[in-house]
Amino acid sequence: MSAPRRTFYLTTPIYYVNATPHLGHAYTTIIADAMARYRRLAGDDVFFLTGTDEHGDKIAQAAAKAGVSPQAYTDRISAAFRETWKRLGITHDDFIRTTEPRHKKVVQQILQTLWDAGEIYLGKYGGHYCFGCERFYTEKEIVDGKCPDHQAPLTWIEEENYFFRMSKYQGWLIEHIERHGDFIRPERYRNEILGFLRDPLTDLSISRPRTRLEWGIPLPFDPKYVTYVWFDALINYVSAIGYPNGPGFRARWAEAQHLIGKDILKPHAVYWPCMLAALAQAQGEPREALLPRRLNVHGYWSLGGGKMSKSIGNVVEALALTEKYSNDAFRYFVMREMVFGLDADFSEEAFVGRLNADLANDLGNLVSRATTLLAKATPNEKPEFGFVAADQDVRVSAGEARHTVELAMEEFAFHRALGDIWEFIGVLNRYIDTTQPWALAKDSTKAAELNRVLATLADTLRFLGIVLAPFLPDAAAKIRRAIGDDRKPELENAVVGRNNTIPRVERLSGLFPRVDEKTPAAAPAESARIRASDFAKLDLRVAEVVAAEPVPRSKKLLRLTVSLGTEERTVVAGIAEHYAPGDLVGKKIVIVANLEPARLMGVDSNGMLLAGSAGDRLAVLTLDRDLPPGARVK
Ligand code: MSP
Repeated sequence: MSAPRRTFYLTTPIYYVNATPHLGHAYTTIIADAMARYRRLAGDDVFFLTGTDEHGDKIAQAAAKAGVSPQAYTDRISAAFRETWKRLGITHDDFIRTTEPRHKKVVQQILQTLWDAGEIYLGKYGGHYCFGCERFYTEKEIVDGKCPDHQAPLTWIEEENYFFRMSKYQGWLIEHIERHGDFIRPERYRNEILGFLRDPLTDLSISRPRTRLEWGIPLPFDPKYVTYVWFDALINYVSAIGYPNGPGFRARWAEAQHLIGKDILKPHAVYWPCMLAALAQAQGEPREALLPRRLNVHGYWSLGGGKMSKSIGNVVEALALTEKYSNDAFRYFVMREMVFGLDADFSEEAFVGRLNADLANDLGNLVSRATTLLAKATPNEKPEFGFVAADQDVRVSAGEARHTVELAMEEFAFHRALGDIWEFIGVLNRYIDTTQPWALAKDSTKAAELNRVLATLADTLRFLGIVLAPFLPDAAAKIRRAIGDDRKPELENAVVGRNNTIPRVERLSGLFPRVDEKTPAAAPAESARIRASDFAKLDLRVAEVVAAEPVPRSKKLLRLTVSLGTEERTVVAGIAEHYAPGDLVGKKIVIVANLEPARLMGVDSNGMLLAGSAGDRLAVLTLDRDLPPGARVK
């Protein structure tokens, strides 16, 4: 009898629609997707939720700036998030928008319940407000009179607002966090919150007067106010799964785990548990009755050592790398590079480094070597072989890898899970090196030994086709297809040593093509096509370099004297950092002969040589067969 299925409910933050998706959002959503896929692979009943957070000043301001209504604006950006997740192959089960009726209804219902229970009161509040953050700052938090996040001046605002009696839950919350060591993980964030809770907790202002902000959910007991955006947003986690009485709500909610970035720790670790405790109490239940199981917190990405900034466009480029190098490579990099919980830096260089070393080399070569050998072999249902130590090692390592992956995933330690799988891939590459199957294949007396090695290799490919599936879904599917494994992948089948057949295998090479590290494959620029007649306007000629010298006072320029057969010309070229003058003398190159003359650093240039470049490398075009100077190039 199989064990009952475990329930698992996983959420990402719902993203603000004041900006389009970037690397940071993609990271959270990708690791959530890997976790959801992993738990499905393990046979669990998984529900994976993401969505968009659409109310509040920030969004109203962004819509005004774009000159459209908030609804039109949120529709557009929310669709951009959905589209991005589709492109990245994200397998969420639901996508919630806070402007949907199903959400607004629950927010109002919860507000009414808390109001009726006396958990909300009308009070006066004056404070330093940051419109960017949509929050008031305490004197202690203000830096040089400015918002510590935006470095912008704060505005003093005084108004009547509704408050949630959060302060009264402080003692209870501390106790809950202390008693449940894994309520907030990793440990550093648990400590951060316990540290924060040493100071008195204030009540939470949960409304905004409509005179200041229209774009929100009206308070059911006073429509002159709309709901504070955090109070509204957090409720998405329960409104999406049918709070309070929807079918299966309780069972699912009891197994809820949130995944968030460290920037939004406080609302999730303080406001949200207090809101849920008040709600449970108002419903006549113990305070803990509605708490989620865990809060999993990850660190922050910086880009090229600096803060991500929309204004320099780098965040968008980072996401474009998924298209340039494949979704799987991107997933692998972000999961392997960032130690879960700590900050990390993103750069294309580091990305390409890992792509080449781990994916092209370690995994790609293994799959290519193993499938090449297996494709040449005769499929065999029952090869004969006995117990051999090398095979036993592989089996044990596979078992260890699976076990350590399970432990790592329990803690959201994606980097460790991948490290464990790669350790096993190392074992396999060494297994091939030492058993030398290609040598066995040449010796007809070693047929049984060869079969044994091949059967083990096939079995390890079956194993990898399963355990890699949550992390590299496309590559894992390709591996399974190459070995003809058409079963639905299930973690319980990830065992090496159970299946000793040699299946029919198709060779699979180039699973992850290598990228030249110095010149990452730049996507060809989107440029307009030209007519052949436009190209024919260029007079390209073969030219022989007869002399070359540096241009005085210039680091970059060389002055070349070239022969076109009938005449000699001076051509100035910006190649001095790549070629010494002597390198080019005697070479046949190609120049644009009908270019307008130009004066460069005091030297008249009468033509332009052709050279290619990628990154910081440059190469002058030369001929691979001899042609006379002056020959036409077209
Ligand atoms: N709308 C709120 C969340 C409400 S949840 C009830 C919000 N949205 S957000 O669009 O600003 O997204 C914040 C989240 O995006 C972070 O918690 C994190 O998951 C992700 N990231 C945004 N920038 C990031 C980095 N630079 N690095 C890593 N993750 C980042 O806050």
